[in-house]
Amino acid sequence: MLLPDYLQTNSSPAITKVILAISAAAKDIAHKIRTANTGKAGSQNTFGEEQLALDVLSDKIFFAAMQDVKEVKIASSEEQTEEVVLNPDGEFALSFDPLDGSSLVDVNLAVGTIFGIWGNGKIVGESGKSLLSSGFAVYGPRTTLVFAIDTFPVEFTLQDDGSWLLTKEKLEISEGKMFAPGNLRACLENANYKKLVNFWIENEYTLRYSGGMVPDLNQILLKGKGVFSYAGSASHPPKLRLVYECAPLARLIEKAGGASSDGSKSILENTVKHLDERITICVGSKEEVKRFEEFLRV
Ligand code: F6P
Repeated sequence: MLLPDYLQTNSSPAITKVILAISAAAKDIAHKIRTANTGKAGSQNTFGEEQLALDVLSDKIFFAAMQDVKEVKIASSEEQTEEVVLNPDGEFALSFDPLDGSSLVDVNLAVGTIFGIWGNGKIVGESGKSLLSSGFAVYGPRTTLVFAIDTFPVEFTLQDDGSWLLTKEKLEISEGKMFAPGNLRACLENANYKKLVNFWIENEYTLRYSGGMVPDLNQILLKGKGVFSYAGSASHPPKLRLVYECAPLARLIEKAGGASSDGSKSILENTVKHLDERITICVGSKEEVKRFEEFLRV
């Protein structure tokens, strides 16, 4: 099944328009990642043209794709952390991280684009419960689009002819010994986090941490098991952003039957105070997220 056919039966016309525009942007970004110089902003390509850094370019591509989507009232990008009004009469707010993990591009590791479609035309003052859909594109050996509307997440894969083919109908998370522990520097000061990481090591969990949140969570969704954590300490506070990364990804994992936590409650229960808010996060199977809360609470 192709993406437009899936959306026709599983989505409203308004959400369909937004997701189709996101899929077009993802296709474009995938192409740029494959072909662009990975130089810094201001470098030149072989035609002597000014080159933009890929994260800046991805941001431009994403905004351009939204220009004609009248359903989007405001859009806010991790690159700019401000609300840009696209259409005052639109009904949705769109948050996105156009190229998450961009420092992994030059070493040719997988990276991604994260998006969230917020229902009330604003983000600040809302919680992740206002998200109507969220997901990500993964730029790896294959380009995939993973998102959830009302039911379980699905995966589409970009084909040679530019279409998106449904490749996984239902992504569901159960229990299994796989861990992706972020910010291990925090263990020096955060003894509880260190104990938890030691628990995972002593119980022979398989380590799977790429340094990119999108591929790390994609792995949990596709393998159907595992846990990702990013706790902090005074010297190494949590850096992942509630609006652009944590809330959209937490919703996706929860839609797959997994759980999310900020240490004491679901990520989705956090009301956004400002766009650049950072938060402790654990996402994955229910038992592992419960364990995270138990260890961090002690
Ligand atoms: O800023 C986002 C990010 O690149 C995530 O994609 C990733 O999970 C995290 O940072 C990695 O952080 P660190 O470099 O501390 O391992």
